[in-house]
Formats: sequence, structure tokens, C-alpha cells
Amino acid sequence: MRKLDINIAIDGYSSCGKSTIAKAISNRFRMVYIDTGAMYRAITLYCIDNNIINNLLVDYDLLFSHLPDIDIRFLYSSNEDQSETFLNGKNVESSIRSLKVSNNVSVIAEIPAVREKLVAIQRNIGLSKNVVMDGRDIGTNVFPDAELKFFITADLDVRVQRRFEEMKHMDGKVTYEEVLENLNKRDKNDMQRRKSPLLKASDAILIDT
Ligand code: DC
Repeated sequence: MRKLDINIAIDGYSSCGKSTIAKAISNRFRMVYIDTGAMYRAITLYCIDNNIINNLLVDYDLLFSHLPDIDIRFLYSSNEDQSETFLNGKNVESSIRSLKVSNNVSVIAEIPAVREKLVAIQRNIGLSKNVVMDGRDIGTNVFPDAELKFFITADLDVRVQRRFEEMKHMDGKVTYEEVLENLNKRDKNDMQRRKSPLLKASDAILIDT
């Protein structure tokens, strides 16, 4: 199949089905799929493991000294038939989806130095086109010139139910209320942060899933 000379940006709230849509597009058109949320989650996992974040408080000096050492990449797994997230050489695809990471990720994602590091990697990947990327600021900030942009939304109760079903398999103790609280908080933080808040690009196509 011919490599498509376009980038596709998919943004929207947490658990609206962005990654499901992005993966389907990537499979159908043989495009490279990049889950930017996984990148913010991987840095958050690193911060938790290295005591850079404790009770939502960040040790900025420690973070800035460690940032250059954090290596995030996606490697294809033939077993899973999808690419998986690696943090400094370790497969973290499953551990970055825990509630602990979800509860801390908004704090890490609003730090400008973190965003600058990840956006630079994301833009670099997009240089050769043929990329479908999902996140919060792809159509507005990472690829403002993307040839195709979608903004995905869904009712909150539908999103909570979907994320709850997904998380139950990983962590049997997680409750519906915990997932609801986490999604509410993350939506609020994503929309209100100063740097690159979640916004629908004016030229994005709105899809309600
Ligand atoms: O897509 P996700 O729920 O896995 O993303 C995890 C968090 O990362 C989300 O709460 C907001 C943040 N994020 C971001 O700030 N910018 C992006 N481009 C992608 C995710």
C-alpha cells in the first residue's frame, strides 16, 4: 500500500475512544500510530518510581536533572500486533495504564519542560508524514498544519463505563467512582492548563462517539 503523505491529528477528552479510532486508521491505511498520552504516562511512571512526584508535589530540581535521561520509544510487538511503549528500554505498556499513573499524569503533563521535550519528539516523528497521532494538543500545537484533524467527544457516563471495564481487568479493586473522579479531574486539568490546553482546532471535524 502506498505511504500516505499526510498526518492525521486526533484530539479529545480522556476515554472517548481516540486510541481505538487511531489504531483502526493506522491498521487500515498502514500509517504509523503514536499514542502521545502514553508518552506523558511514561514520564509520570518514571517520576513516581524515582520519587520526583509525591502526593502530587513535584521536586522540580530533581525532574530537570533527570529529564535528559528519560528515553521513551515505541517498538512493534508481533505478539500483540501493535507498538508498545518502552521507558529506558523497559516495556511499560501495561504499568502506565494504572490508576496511580492516571492520578498523577495531569500534574506532570502541565510542566512546560515536559511538554517541550515530548512535543519535539512528536514533531520529529511527523516530519516524514504517514502518522496518525492522538492526544490533547495535536491539532492545535503539535501539527497545526495536519492535513486531517478530528476532535472526539462522548458523554461522561459512557466514558467512565468504558474506562472502568478496561481497568477492571488490570486492577480488580478499582471502583466506578474512582474512575469517575479521575476522568473529571483530568478533563478539568487538561482544559485549564496554561500551556497547550485541550481545545478543538477550528478546522477539526467533531465526532461524538
Ligand atoms: O490519552 P491518555 O488519557 O492516555 O493521556 C494521559 C494524560 O496525558 C492525559 O490526562 C492528559 C495528558 N496528555 C496531554 O497533556 N497531552 C497530550 N498530547 C496527550 C496526553
